[in-house]
Amino acid sequence: MPRLPVALIPYLAAFALIVGGYLWYAGDVASGLAHQRPVNLGGPFTLVDQYGHSRTDGDFRGRFMLIYFGYSMCPDVCPTELGKMADAIAELGPRAKRVVPVFITVDPQRDTPPHLKDYVSEFGSQFVGLTGTLDQIKSVAREYNVYFRKRPLGDGNYGMDHTSTIYLIGPNGKLANVYTEGTNPDDIANDLKKRL
Ligand code: NI
Repeated sequence: MPRLPVALIPYLAAFALIVGGYLWYAGDVASGLAHQRPVNLGGPFTLVDQYGHSRTDGDFRGRFMLIYFGYSMCPDVCPTELGKMADAIAELGPRAKRVVPVFITVDPQRDTPPHLKDYVSEFGSQFVGLTGTLDQIKSVAREYNVYFRKRPLGDGNYGMDHTSTIYLIGPNGKLANVYTEGTNPDDIANDLKKRL
């Protein structure tokens, strides 16, 4: 057996640590889990749904919520992520009744209840669209550590920069998982099937 030069051992150990750390990280990314596990996200909210009814987080106890923050005039990211939620839920069959997809606008100025009603219905009748005053939106965004900011467009119009993450809230109202943009509908559906 060839003898290992003693001087190499620290380097080999460091290399093993780096590779091991990367594999751990890559495994988390592949499984759709954020590598930073934010355990304190989420919290109570009072908002208004697409029918103009006041809704609180407590209304959804006993069911899972898939929550996404965005705005209806978002050109591509929001429709992609909401479509992903719809696809994942479609894979659940009858168990889908226990999962409520929720879209919370970060653009309450334009996303009024009637506007949200049209928008979320494009993704499925089970979708709940939520809006509110700017203060109410700021408050719920802060709880979820969601960043959003108005970005003026050249034509006098504006877009919204915003965090793009899907949050899974469990039947107890606590955060159960976070799906980053790289997560596909199958990953989300498989994760939900394990929990339902
Ligand atoms: Ni968007």
